[in-house]
Amino acid sequence: MAVSGRDHTLFLADEAATEALGRALATAVRRSGKGATVFLRGNLGMGKTTLSRGVMRGMGHEGAVKSPTYTIVEPYEHLRPEVYHFDLYRLGDPEELEYLGIRDYFGGSSLCLIEWAERGDGILPVPDVQITIEPEVDGRRASLRSLTPTGNALLECLQASRLAGF
Ligand SMILES: Nc1ncnc2c1ncn2[C@@H]1O[C@H](COP(=O)(O)OP(=O)(O)OP(=O)(O)O)[C@@H](O)[C@H]1O
Ligand SMILES: [Mg+2]
Repeated sequence: MAVSGRDHTLFLADEAATEALGRALATAVRRSGKGATVFLRGNLGMGKTTLSRGVMRGMGHEGAVKSPTYTIVEPYEHLRPEVYHFDLYRLGDPEELEYLGIRDYFGGSSLCLIEWAERGDGILPVPDVQITIEPEVDGRRASLRSLTPTGNALLECLQASRLAGF
């Protein structure tokens, strides 16, 4: 099934469901054998960090997953692929990303998860997958969209294995 260009939406009833989507994404990335860039969109408190925690757990990380709000990026270099978790909420200017040497993180073999990617407009690359989280009833609605062949493959893997309950 073609997945490019249209959103797949799923209902996330609670925090555990958001984490489970993250774990499913981690499995798809591991199976792909390569890195990816994922934008996590959604308002304050929508569950972007919760989903990221699920990804890290799915990769085998057992320690804490803290929000990188103040550090901008939190590296998880012991994971395979290596994961870089960004939160650009406090970024003053997209150019600040240049000083952080962010180009080194992208397009390689690592998985980059980026909260508040819109604050890095013009500097960040096109993501492979964009996940938008919005409120729905007492839970959330997640819309997943692929923007590259790598993203297509990831969403197809999620679908094929019903990992995310599509
Ligand atoms: N599917 C869900 N249904 C209801 N609550 C949820 C769901 N997923 C996550 N939450 C709750 O949303 C709250 C905020 O989560 P989180 O910190 O992950 O948001 P965030 O999008 O990273 O926010 P910020 O923009 O401040 O970084 C947490 O209390 C979490 O338990
Ligand atoms: Mg967050």
